[in-house]
Amino acid sequence: MSGARPPLSWEPDGLHIEGTRFLVSDNAEEYLANESSLDGIVVAKSREMVEDLLASVADGRTDRIVDVGIYKGGSTALLAAALRPLRLTAFDVAPEPVEVLEDFVAAHDWAEVVHSHYGVDQADLPALLALIEKDHGGEPLDLVVDDASHFYRETRATFSALFPLLRPGGVYVIEDWAWAHYSEPLWQEHGGWFHDRPALTNLIVEVLMMLGSGSKNGANGVAKVTAQRGSVQVVRGPAPLSSPMRIEEQYRNRGLPFRPLM
Ligand SMILES: C[S@@+](CC[C@H](N)C(=O)[O-])C[C@H]1O[C@@H](n2cnc3c(N)ncnc32)[C@H](O)[C@@H]1O
Repeated sequence: MSGARPPLSWEPDGLHIEGTRFLVSDNAEEYLANESSLDGIVVAKSREMVEDLLASVADGRTDRIVDVGIYKGGSTALLAAALRPLRLTAFDVAPEPVEVLEDFVAAHDWAEVVHSHYGVDQADLPALLALIEKDHGGEPLDLVVDDASHFYRETRATFSALFPLLRPGGVYVIEDWAWAHYSEPLWQEHGGWFHDRPALTNLIVEVLMMLGSGSKNGANGVAKVTAQRGSVQVVRGPAPLSSPMRIEEQYRNRGLPFRPLM
């Protein structure tokens, strides 16, 4: 079993969990400027995103977690501190280890618990699956958080491989799914920052089609989808799914193919 979850304390200077301070902000100017240190580890999320994430697993087991997108180490450290998993695997395409995360892990004596893998693209499914198999030995996952590229094709690839690995009732969180709809000029002017990329919203539509294509008896791959502005939580149903699954074969659409809408 994983450890008992400690209390969280939201203070003006950050989120405190048993002596560790987390600098939680989705303000790009702040998280770009702040450097992670053991005095304050940068989490590039809003408080609401952290609260929604933790609420989505409040009543469930969180022994086995995968965090995609390490950045300055904050989400991986936060998930370890708040949810006390038996095993947490983290990935980032950036090749350089995040020193403060490695220091945080060493300070807690969690080298057996937290396994960070750098230089791994989230769309490299053979690499992802081999490392997860190595870290988790084929045991089903309880929670996956994807806060990496936010690109449709890459995020879809990761979902196709890791969603099937969740236990029934396990939760898959896709963060910042709504970037194509954000109000800031960065996202809307001149086609927006990711103007050459299909919106991540397309994947959410496909996940909703998976939900809607399930049978009435509830033996479905997707059991439930909950959306907030900052994240979507997808709850795994009991139906077997192979990994990687062909997402387009998991929903019905009157025989019509789905193409990215936007
Ligand atoms: C928004 S940051 C992650 C923030 C972190 N999860 C947190 O809450 O503090 C996105 C991270 O995803 C990584 N990334 C971007 N594209 C990726 C890809 N294709 N595969 C894996 N990681 C990727 C970036 O290097 C960056 O560190």
